[in-house]
This record gives sequence, C-alpha cells and structure tokens, in this order.
Amino acid sequence: MLKEAETDKMDGAPNGAKANKRKVFVKTYGCQMNVYDSERMADALSTQGYQQTDNPEEADLLLLNTCHIREKAAEKVYSELGRIRKLKQARAEEGADLMVGVAGCVAQAEGQEIIRRAPIVDLVIGPQTYHRLPQAIARARNGEKVVETEYAIEDKFEHLPEPEKKVIASRGVTAFLTVQEGCDKFCTFCVVPYTRGSEVSRPVGQIEREARQLVAAGVREITLLGQNVNAWHGEGADGREWGLGELLRLLAGIDGLERLRYTTSHPRDMDDALIEAHRDLDKLMPYLHLPVQSGSDSVLKAMNRRHTAKDYLTLVERIRAVRPGIALSGDFIVGFPGETDADFEDTLRLVEEVGYAQAFSFKYSPRPGTPGAERDDHIPEGVKSQRLERLQTLLRKHQSKFADNCVGATIDLLLEKPGRQPGQLIGRSPWLQPVIIDAKSSQIGEIVKVRITQTGTNSLFAETVQGESGSATI
Ligand code: 5AD
Ligand code: SF4
Repeated sequence: MLKEAETDKMDGAPNGAKANKRKVFVKTYGCQMNVYDSERMADALSTQGYQQTDNPEEADLLLLNTCHIREKAAEKVYSELGRIRKLKQARAEEGADLMVGVAGCVAQAEGQEIIRRAPIVDLVIGPQTYHRLPQAIARARNGEKVVETEYAIEDKFEHLPEPEKKVIASRGVTAFLTVQEGCDKFCTFCVVPYTRGSEVSRPVGQIEREARQLVAAGVREITLLGQNVNAWHGEGADGREWGLGELLRLLAGIDGLERLRYTTSHPRDMDDALIEAHRDLDKLMPYLHLPVQSGSDSVLKAMNRRHTAKDYLTLVERIRAVRPGIALSGDFIVGFPGETDADFEDTLRLVEEVGYAQAFSFKYSPRPGTPGAERDDHIPEGVKSQRLERLQTLLRKHQSKFADNCVGATIDLLLEKPGRQPGQLIGRSPWLQPVIIDAKSSQIGEIVKVRITQTGTNSLFAETVQGESGSATI
C-alpha cells in the first residue's frame, strides 16, 4: 500500500491562462497515487478546455480526490461537501454553475450514497474509471447525476491520456509513474483491495513510453507507484515474464533519467531479481519503504500478512548485505484487535533490530467491510494512544540517529525547488531526506555534490563541495 503524501495537495494553475477557459480546482487527499491520478485527471480535463486553478472560488468544476484508508474518511468528505454547498450557492448567485465531483477511494466505496447524502454532488467517479471522466463530465453538464464506479478489469490501464509535455514540464524534476494498481493481499485491516480492486500491472511498453516522455520534459527522478508495486509483472522485451527488478533495469538504461525509486512494497514480493537490482543499479536510490505493520507473529497472522517477524528480519539482512547503508522505511499499526502488551513489545523489539531511517505509524482504525472491523476484541482508544506514543518516540530516536550519521557525508543532491529563504534550494538526499542548501534557482534540476553540515527538524543542511566524488553510503 502507498504511504500518504505529505500534505493535501491543491494542484495549482499554470500562469498566463486564457480568461475564457473553464477552470477546475482539484483537491487531493491521501497517497502518492492520488497525487498522480489528480495530475492525470487534470491532463484529461485540459484537453476539454479546463484550466487548473488553485482558487476554489473561481472554479467551474471542483473535484475532490478522496482517500478512504483511515479514520472517518467518508465523514470528512461529507463535511467538506457541506462547505462546498455554500460556495455553490454563492456562485449561483453570481450566475455561475459550479459543478462538483467526488473521485478516489471514498467515491468507489460510497458510490450513489454520496449523491443521496450530498445532492449538490453532480458526479461520483471511482479510480478504475478515470478514463471515462471527460464523457462523465459532459453528461453531468447536461444535468445528469453521474455515478461511475463499475469497471472491467481490462479497462484499468486504458486510463487517462498520456501527460502532455508542457504540462509535465511545469511539474518539476521529479515525477510519479503508476506501474501497478490494486491489491490481492487482503490484509484484514485494509480497504485497498475493495476500493482499488485486484492487482493489475501496466504493460512494459506503456511504462517505458511514459518514462521517456517524462525525461524528455526535464524529469530526472521517477518514483514508480503501485499499491503493491513489487508485485508488478509483465512480458519483457525478451518475451520472458519480468518482475520489478527487470523493469527497473530497463528504465535505468534511459539516458537523462538519473534516479529511480519505487513504492510501496510487500515483504512477500521482494524477489531475488529486485534485491539484485539494489546491488547493481546505481540509479536505484538506496531507500526502501517496506511496511511490516507489527513485530508480533500472532498479530501478523491475524492481519493476514503472510510473513513472520523472522521472515522480515531475514529479508532486511539480505537487502542490507547487497546494499549496505540503505535507508529503510516502514509502516506500523498499533492496537489491531487482540494485540496484547507482549505483542506490542515484539513490535518495539523489531524496530530496535531494524533501525528505521523513517517510518509511519498509526492507531488501528476499523474500516467498514474489512475482516478486522468485524472482530469483537477491539483495543481501547487509550491503550492504542499510549502504544502509539511509545512507538513513535522510539521511531523518532532511530530517525534522528540516521540523520545524525549523515552529517559529514558527501552526497549527490538533486536540486528540486526553491527553499523558504531567498537564495536557498531544497533537494532530496539519496535516502529521501529533504536537504537545504544555498544555490541559485537556475540550478534546479542539477545533481550537485554536497557535504551535509547539520541536521534540522525534518531536514538536513548542506554546503557545496567542489571537485570531490560523492559517496552514497554512510
Ligand atoms: N488502520 C490504521 N492504519 C491503516 N493502514 C492501512 N489501513 C489501516 C487501518 N485500517 C496503514 C498501514 C498501511 C498505511 C498506508 O496505512 O500501515 O501500510
Ligand atoms: Fe492493503 Fe495489505 Fe494490500 Fe498493502 S498489501 S494495500 S496493506 S491489503
């Protein structure tokens, strides 16, 4: 499963737009795949004459791209729709007709119910049917209330138009590229297999073409996305069945593409070829998001994770043997039904043993329709909160230790965007940490050698080094 994007992202409008165009405002919640999907939806709409805006008050179409992963997600969408109802009224008083669409996993899970509870919604569209968005919008414009959540699995990657070069170019030097969607793992806490459907891999040719387009538009780093990205498979150029390791090898051969990452992986699908890719491909960054969820075998079994704590630790050892210094990141859930104090202690022990560079941790939240939600041994909120607090304190300690160890290292830094202070740029280290450095904005897109000088709250500071070769290990 994908981790959440750092912030809700409101897709901004390109400058210099024509005044007579219709405007769309897209608000994105949740994971990186939603960020990617929002961009594809905006691309599809731009071919229909819609230009993006970052101001909901001037929009003709307002799209919420929703997430259903945790805590009262649907309720949050309904309260947002309550606020939008007022906006729609205000726009109507000005003589404008604001169309409202709900996309994403809440749309898939709730369907028609959204229009029943929030009649201001004109369109509900699930993630598997975004390729039908332009027609759906045309139908909604004709006054129809449209619900598009039914799909055939073959449709899945018939998806959206390929991004236009000029649109990509406005999005910077790093990009997401979806290679796989859906999940067949059915972890008992998780809604993804229900909202995103079963696993489908995108064909090699489509992926390579999109990667080349991104690079031609100035992208230097690509992150391959999938809810279960390392379950990706497809027929390779040699006629054999490829896995993600072979796909990464192919993409690493693209001139001008300097960095590759992928997320999110399931421990069961880390095969030998993928581990070898970490050994062989310099372009594959030394960072791996490998969720374990719990360190207790009985909780892992109840979660249907299909691996033990020992399996996970052995895997980590194999990965570290081929790529020493790799930054490991994880996801954790505390307070899954039936989790005892001893189970929780097992999680803390596993964390101590692995030493994560970064991690995301959550209190278990029952998701309607999942087996976990049906159990009758739920853990009290107070206990969940205490466990989360202890786990996060430990994870923070490891994260700081990893960052402290970076100080003094010389690394390659991809300069991505302006920093908060004038004269500063922000880039990412090979281990995905944000790094702040004094540099000119004309350097955005360059990879420079820098020395890490100190750690900040959630970032590192660095200075440029001349004429030294960088090292990507610490
Ligand atoms: N409750 C809490 N956390 C969850 N996650 C997924 N489903 C739930 C849930 N029901 C977490 C998992 C996953 C991450 C993206 O979100 O840790 O890996
Ligand atoms: Fe959800 Fe488990 Fe699939 Fe990840 S592997 S998306 S946690 S069901």
